[in-house]
Amino acid sequence: MLLKGKTAVITGCNRGIGKATLKVFAEHGADVWACVRQVDDEFTTFLEALGQETGACLTPVCFDLADGDAVKEGAKSILAEKKPIDILVNNAGIIHTSLFQMTPVDKMKELFEVNYFSQLLLTQYMVKSMTRKRSGAIVNISSSAAIEGNEGRTAYASSKAAMICSTKVMAKELARANIRVNAIAPGLTMTDMMTGSTPEDALAQTLERICMKRVGEPEEIAKAALFLSSDLSSYMTGQVLRVDGGM
Ligand SMILES: NC(=O)c1ccc[n+]([C@@H]2O[C@H](COP(=O)([O-])OP(=O)(O)OC[C@H]3O[C@@H](n4cnc5c(N)ncnc54)[C@H](OP(=O)(O)O)[C@@H]3O)[C@@H](O)[C@H]2O)c1
Repeated sequence: MLLKGKTAVITGCNRGIGKATLKVFAEHGADVWACVRQVDDEFTTFLEALGQETGACLTPVCFDLADGDAVKEGAKSILAEKKPIDILVNNAGIIHTSLFQMTPVDKMKELFEVNYFSQLLLTQYMVKSMTRKRSGAIVNISSSAAIEGNEGRTAYASSKAAMICSTKVMAKELARANIRVNAIAPGLTMTDMMTGSTPEDALAQTLERICMKRVGEPEEIAKAALFLSSDLSSYMTGQVLRVDGGM
């Protein structure tokens, strides 16, 4: 129960790494504002079952990260509950693959809006609560693509690299408020994003470069987020944790 008594905000909770993180956090005693673009019956049923199983208070919050005004409204609705926020996991994201010369600048802006600007906006709101409490942990889900600069990933890798840079800056600025800020750079992880954006030949080539010769599971990224959100990492800030099977 590493997060007992803590309240977390996690984006992109309805599938993939976000859903696994929501589950691990609830199992470790956290109450969670489960941010999603839309709530459907399947997600409602999942939240209810997980809440009953763990005793955690799991509340869905809807906003689209492509819409800055919606992000503000979502953030305000969370803060209006006056329940101090201890943890923020900026997880939701989108990917796009095309060669640099073939990538319209509008597409780059779209990726930056969802993967970067809206996440910073949400963070600014959540930091207000953390600053009042003088404690907090922020985990930004970046990507190994941000470090490796993979071909075809100008928009995606750049948006994720920007998040790494902001992680380091925020870590320096927010340490005085006792808020830690770290990033995770997952490698290939078995989610819709990976299967939808990694052709078989690219997957085979990348597996060659992974020491462990397999892709990661969403739970393995979630456990790293648990570590960075809990007191187990109490002396870590401004770091980028690669979780990639040894790429
Ligand atoms: N899987 C990998 O191999 C891998 C590797 C490195 C980094 N990552 C990063 O890990 C994070 C999670 O990825 P994943 O693999 O779990 O992807 P995923 O299965 O595609 O899930 C993406 C999540 O982000 C949400 N999302 C997308 N656009 C949104 C928007 N405009 N507003 C609100 N929510 C939005 C999705 O909600 P909807 O269901 O509504 O679309 C979904 O919950 C991402 O930041 C990704 O870049 C993944």
